[in-house]
Amino acid sequence: MKFQSIRGVKDILPGEIEAVQRLELAARSVFESFGFSEIRIPIFEVTELFARGIGTTTDIVEKEMYTFEDRDGKKITLRPEGTAPVVRAYIEHQLNLKAPVAKLYYLGPMFRHERPQAGRFRQFYQIGVEAIGTDRPAMDVEVLAMLMTTLQQVGVTEVQLEINSLGDAACRPHYRKTLKAYFKTHLSQLCEDCRRRYEINPMRILDCKKEGCKTVTAKAPSSLDHLCGECLAHFQQVKDGLNQLKIPFIVNERLVRGLDYYMRTAFEVTTTKLGAQNAIAAGGRYDGLVEELGGPPTPGIGFAMGVERIATLMERFETPKPDLFFALLGEEAVRQMLPVIIRLRGEGVRIEMDYSGGGLKKQMGLADKLGARHTLIVGENELKSGKAILRDMRTKEQREMSLSDLSEPLLKIIRS
Ligand code: HAM
Repeated sequence: MKFQSIRGVKDILPGEIEAVQRLELAARSVFESFGFSEIRIPIFEVTELFARGIGTTTDIVEKEMYTFEDRDGKKITLRPEGTAPVVRAYIEHQLNLKAPVAKLYYLGPMFRHERPQAGRFRQFYQIGVEAIGTDRPAMDVEVLAMLMTTLQQVGVTEVQLEINSLGDAACRPHYRKTLKAYFKTHLSQLCEDCRRRYEINPMRILDCKKEGCKTVTAKAPSSLDHLCGECLAHFQQVKDGLNQLKIPFIVNERLVRGLDYYMRTAFEVTTTKLGAQNAIAAGGRYDGLVEELGGPPTPGIGFAMGVERIATLMERFETPKPDLFFALLGEEAVRQMLPVIIRLRGEGVRIEMDYSGGGLKKQMGLADKLGARHTLIVGENELKSGKAILRDMRTKEQREMSLSDLSEPLLKIIRS
């Protein structure tokens, strides 16, 4: 029997993982300089958290969640996103008492049973942030600046930031009504999914990618024309802040998000380089979510980056090569050199060696293949004379080194 990974679930191998690691490092460093701290949220939660948080009529909750009963008969879901769990943790641990704004970031796998295609997986990684506790537009600007800085630091610069405002509890119901009235006159042109959305969640129609629906939505009323005074002023301040920081953006009044918790600012970062799956990061405000999940009324904003998508846009990085290869001939050489090897590894030196007991030629071949910078040769002769041979694999120069005093001189050479 031959096993394969499940469709839409992939391994990230050495050679691919280096870009992911760099992205994670850059994100951590940027987020921490903005005062955000890491939170580790569980991989699974009770299903109800996502149904309530994301919205029962969203695609994610309706058809994409990995939900099962555990052995106690409890309904469990593998997290399809991180915002609802972070808000759950915020409420559970009363993080509102610890700081005026909880500024949290997380990274890890998410699970959605979507149709797999290039850039769309059933297990994928996100790096996300949530700032919970303020509705000030300055926070929207900070969060967006943080996202764009991170992308810039990993060299992903040919991107487009699209923003929109979806209104709030005061103005959205009126917009929804206007939108519904418009779609009512075009129902026959909409796809089956959208005819259903018309009844339960008409704003989602704006996000449909089908040609017929796109023709209809092109002329649909815009949320921006229906914002109340406060939402309009909020959106203006967000745009002013972005302009002040010289962060380029476009206003996309068709931008609605696939999750119901969004209010006011919603945004996406897109690229033209990835085909259909063009969103590399997305987020927005969710000012009603904390209350919806049983906490005190508290505004919040955040985003999540799609790690695989961003990593494909980054340059390729080589798997790190050994600093030093130990070509050891015979058990006695291995026995004597092991303490030196462990000591140097403890100092951060990358050391490789042969594990198959091959001869010198074979071991030198392996050192070459691995791209080792230096090779230290110790065989019977070297043990007898008390002198090992260090070979610079690039210049092919060789020098003798005293076996009784190896660690420090080796460290010096490797670090020079
Ligand atoms: P989202 O738009 O569902 O938002 O996902 C954010 C990003 O995750 C997307 O822009 C995309 O890059 C990546 N992504 C989503 N689904 C897949 C998939 N199937 N395969 C590969 N990548 C994918 C959220 O998840 C919100 N929780 C973001 C947020 C945080 N809003 C506020 N705070």
